[in-house]
Amino acid sequence: MVVDEAAVTMERITSLAKRRGFVYGSSEIYGGVSGFWDYGPLGVELRDNIRRAWWRAIVHLRDDVVGLDTSLIMPPSVWAASGHLENFNDPLVECGSCRHRYRADDLAPGASCPHCGGSLSAPRQFNTMFSTHVGPVADDASVAYLRPETAQGTFVNFKNVMQTTSRKIPFGIAQVGKSFRNEITTGNFIFRVREFEQMELEYFVKPGTDGQWFEHWLAERMRWWTEDIGIRPENLSVRAHEPSELSHYSKQTSDIEYAFPFGTKELEGIADRTDFDLKAHMAGSGQDLSYFDDLEGERYVPFVIEPAAGLTRAFLTVLIDAYGEEQTGPKPSDRRTVLRLKPSLAPFKVAVFPLLANRPPLVEQAREIYRTLKPYFTVAWDDIGNVGKRYRRQDEIGTPWAVTVDYQSLEDGTVTVRDRDSMQQERHSIADLTQLFLSRLGPV
Ligand code: GAP
Repeated sequence: MVVDEAAVTMERITSLAKRRGFVYGSSEIYGGVSGFWDYGPLGVELRDNIRRAWWRAIVHLRDDVVGLDTSLIMPPSVWAASGHLENFNDPLVECGSCRHRYRADDLAPGASCPHCGGSLSAPRQFNTMFSTHVGPVADDASVAYLRPETAQGTFVNFKNVMQTTSRKIPFGIAQVGKSFRNEITTGNFIFRVREFEQMELEYFVKPGTDGQWFEHWLAERMRWWTEDIGIRPENLSVRAHEPSELSHYSKQTSDIEYAFPFGTKELEGIADRTDFDLKAHMAGSGQDLSYFDDLEGERYVPFVIEPAAGLTRAFLTVLIDAYGEEQTGPKPSDRRTVLRLKPSLAPFKVAVFPLLANRPPLVEQAREIYRTLKPYFTVAWDDIGNVGKRYRRQDEIGTPWAVTVDYQSLEDGTVTVRDRDSMQQERHSIADLTQLFLSRLGPV
């Protein structure tokens, strides 16, 4: 088998995602809208499996983190206090000839317009928060903003969570949900978009212990990407921010980066937000958000370590990292596209085929297996074309195992189980299939 490394291009990833129903352009029948995407039948499964893996590792398997889900639209008072109204800006430059606009930090210093070669204006600060109005009157008093990060919803609920769960510090609040940014430029498929999902943990610690918790979370997040999600470690790296790059709230940030086909870029940021946000909301709201440590007998405003990952960006990374094209034999038709997804992330865990679609005993036996597996796994049914083509279709969407019912099945109660990665086929008893796949899948 020859693996074609050069085949992993954004064109092929985008084409597969669209062709097989992972991602579609938003409002495509009206020409689409830049920076917005819709998730198709396979896309919602893959995305939810990544989300679940994050929630399981961050909330369910730990004793020190609880979950939260806050509203997407929040009033200006929140964004004034958090510093986003003043600071959530990107430097915008405009071409004097063709009027194209760019993020200045996407271009080399002194660059001319990439579109027409014209000269670019001096950068001006462009606030990337989307605004809207709440209620029937659209005036200054009804302005509100779509959140550009989930974190502020967590900070403004810090007191609620403390009071209702009686947590002791250190502890964390996790949130997964949509965020919105009116990015100056979007691109590279779903890498930088205007509506996306984030998976953010705000982990509250005693001041002075923040350095060690920062290291803890950096190591834990690298572990998650490689072990739980299956990203190849050689494609990941860590980059510490220069002081000039730090966000207005951060004392220290390191990005976990991925080697995308279009360059090495941020996948997740781990930041030491200090007590910036809680103190800002204390000042803005007049509420006391400090913590009393009854063991030590001291009161303080906790520091926050924040691992902040993009779910949308994780989805793209998983697709790219799993994508492969292979020549499995001498004929041109012996080529397959395969998504080597970790089985726990695959949209379908098992596919079931009757060897021939027009032989009722084979179809009935296969249908029974399909019905037996369905309460335990997401199962695909395919009876179109020959079995080789069905394997190819399942390989392309990452289904780890395929079960084929043939004439021998009717005689001895066994089926072939074909493995996506090795392409090996083994015979197994029909009665053992549920246990076989449960043990191969492991806890999810
Ligand atoms: N609360 C901190 C925060 O929002 P960030 O580095 O701006 O930090 C965290 O965002 C993660 O969210 C990024 O690492 C990236 O994965 C994702 N993200 C940010 N902006 C995005 C965009 N426009 N499109 C897709 N994902 C984005």
